[in-house]
Formats: sequence, C-alpha cells, structure tokens
Amino acid sequence: MTDQSMTCVLDGALVSPPPIWLMRQAGRYLPEYRKIRQEAGSFLDLCYNPDLAAEVTMQPIRRFDLDAAILFSDILVIPDGLGIPVRFEEGRGPILDPVRDHEAVKRLDTEAVRSRCAPVYEAVAKIRAGLSNTKTLIGFAGGPWTVAAYAVEGGSSKGFGEIKAWMWRDPPGFRALIDVLVEATIEHLSRQVEAGADCVQLFESWAGVLPEPEFQCYVVDPTRRIVDGLRFRHANLPIIGFPRAAGHMIETYVSETKVSAVGLDTGVPMAQALALQRKLPIQGNLDPLLLVSGGTALRQRVEDLIGILASGPFIFNLGHGIVPQTPPDHVAALITMVRETAQVSSG
Ligand code: CP3
Repeated sequence: MTDQSMTCVLDGALVSPPPIWLMRQAGRYLPEYRKIRQEAGSFLDLCYNPDLAAEVTMQPIRRFDLDAAILFSDILVIPDGLGIPVRFEEGRGPILDPVRDHEAVKRLDTEAVRSRCAPVYEAVAKIRAGLSNTKTLIGFAGGPWTVAAYAVEGGSSKGFGEIKAWMWRDPPGFRALIDVLVEATIEHLSRQVEAGADCVQLFESWAGVLPEPEFQCYVVDPTRRIVDGLRFRHANLPIIGFPRAAGHMIETYVSETKVSAVGLDTGVPMAQALALQRKLPIQGNLDPLLLVSGGTALRQRVEDLIGILASGPFIFNLGHGIVPQTPPDHVAALITMVRETAQVSSG
C-alpha cells in the first residue's frame, strides 16, 4: 500500500483532488533556482552535484507543496555518460559532438553511464531521504528517439534533416544507436529506482516528427523494450510515457508499450483524452502559456479540465514544461485552483 496520491492514480485509482506536479517545476522561473544555478557554474555541473541537484529538486516542493518531486537532471546526461560530450551555451541550448555513423556508435561506452551518472543516483537517494512519504519522487530519462535526435543533430533542431537522412540511408547503423540508448536508458532508470525513485517518466519530446512506420520502429518498439527491461528488474514499476505531439499515434503507443500512464501534450483534444482515460491513467495537459497569462482564462481552463477529466484517474500537469517567464505567483494560484475546484465538483 502507498500513501502517495500520485502512485494511487498510477495504479488506476480515482483521487480527488487530483495530484498535481508540473513538468520543469524546478527551473529558471524561480529566483531561488537562478541563485543556485549561478553558484553551481554550468548547467551540467548542477546536474552532477548531488547536494545542489537535491536542493533545486526540493525548491518547488517547499514553495508550492506539489504532490510529486521530479529529480532535477536532464535527458542529455545519458549521451554525456556514453561519451558524447554535451555542453549548454546561454541562449543556444544544448550542443553535442554529433554521432552520424555506425563507426561512431561502436565507440560509445554503455558501461560508462552508470559511473558517470553516479552523482545523479546519489541525488535521488538524498531527495528520497528528505521527502515526505506522502510525496512521490519521479525519476526520468528521454525516450531513445528524442535523445538520438539531440545526439545526431548535435543539439536542438527544427527540421531533423540529419537524423532522418541517417535513419533512411543506413537502418542497421541507426538501429545500433537506438539499441545502445535502449540499454543505457534501462540501466539509468533502474539505478534511479534502486536509489529511491517511486516511478519514472520517459520524455519522448520529438515523437511527433515521425511518420507512422518509423514511429513504430523508433518510438513504440524501443519504448516497449525499455518497459519490459524495467519491469523485469522492478515488477510493477509505474512508468509514465510522454509521446509529445504524437496525435492519433498515442493510441498505438499506449496499447503496445504497456506504459502505466500517458502524459498528454497541449494539442490533445478532450474527446481523445477521455477515450485514452478509459484505458489508463492520464496526465496533462494545460498549456504552459496559460500559466504565464493567469487570470480568468487560466481559471476557466482549469475548471474545464477538472470537470472533464477528474472523474477518472487523472494527474494534473501541463502539456509541456513551464517556461522561464512564468510568474511563480501564477503557479501558486494554479495549485490552489486545482485543489479548490476539485473539492467543489466532488462535494
Ligand atoms: O521537470 C523538471 O523540473 C526536471 C528537470 C528537467 C530538465 N530538463 C531541467 C532543465 C527535465 C525533466 C528535463 C527534460 C528535458 N531536457 C527534455 C524533455 C522535456 C522537454 O522539455 O521536451 C529535453 C528535450 C531536454 C533537453 C534540454 N535541456 C534542452 C533543449 C535545454 C535547453 C532549453 C532552454 O530552455 O534553454 C535543457 C536545459 C535545461 N534542462 C534547463 C532546465 C531547468 C535550463 C537550463 C538552465 O538552467 O540554464
């Protein structure tokens, strides 16, 4: 048994008010984050410092009393651990030494992830030790397709020209990269669970850029292997999949990967959300920019979301991460709204 509202929902229970956490709940919109970030040096130095990573993970919990903490880290620690150096430049986002052929994949070191990421697992243990038992600790990793997109493009991309060119030109070589990422992801998430994570989320942020056959090969199949690999080691581990912008391919993703719950992006219509909720717990999908606006537009949408989705297993969240210009007061107001609206509609 658990006394965590979020793991109850992941188990299929209806909880009112619904548990709430927010993607990127620790980050630049918080002054206390900006202070620690400055002290830490680079963004990756912060990710690899267990004390500071634990501290910034706890900042939004202390400030807002959210129902879950998400490990402060990044999806790019896996490529960094594999031997694809990652750096973050102000205003440019991440920059990686690109991997573009089979020879480069053969040089990656799967074994190195667990030693390079040891400080990440140490952070998980510290967070769990300081977090109330009523709050869920979420571990995470990027989906293999999304991580591959950063590794092959060498950073953020709009067109995905390099990765798509390689994927179609040399399927065995590209598959070798996906295979390495699948193994590294199973290892990385298992270590987080062993250190104290209660559940994990797979961020497949670029799921939406693939045509259906490639979505099957490079999103659905690898995710299924990760889910199987994790459950082999940790039976019943709750796993949230977040196949962002995948439209109607979300149905296939859900039925074939066996994730425990699905995160819905802002573009998912309520009719589709309700249909999915008949199959599994759902999480989402408030527009992060509504949280920037606040006011009556925000209140109206929160009431709508709760009116429509809170009568089934539901975790309140955004449809994508909090943006840096979000006023922290709007986050506090959102949490109060969710808790009060749900009381009214069930009372
Ligand atoms: O949700 C949380 O609070 C946990 C922490 C978290 C971060 N990144 C911290 C972060 C999580 C879950 C991520 C996931 C992540 N990282 C994704 C998947 C989710 C998504 O947003 O689609 C992706 C694609 C990345 C890769 C990444 N990391 C990019 C593209 C960037 C730069 C973007 C930017 O806004 O500059 C990052 C940096 C990053 N990761 C920051 C934070 C708080 C900002 C870095 C800073 O403090 O300067």
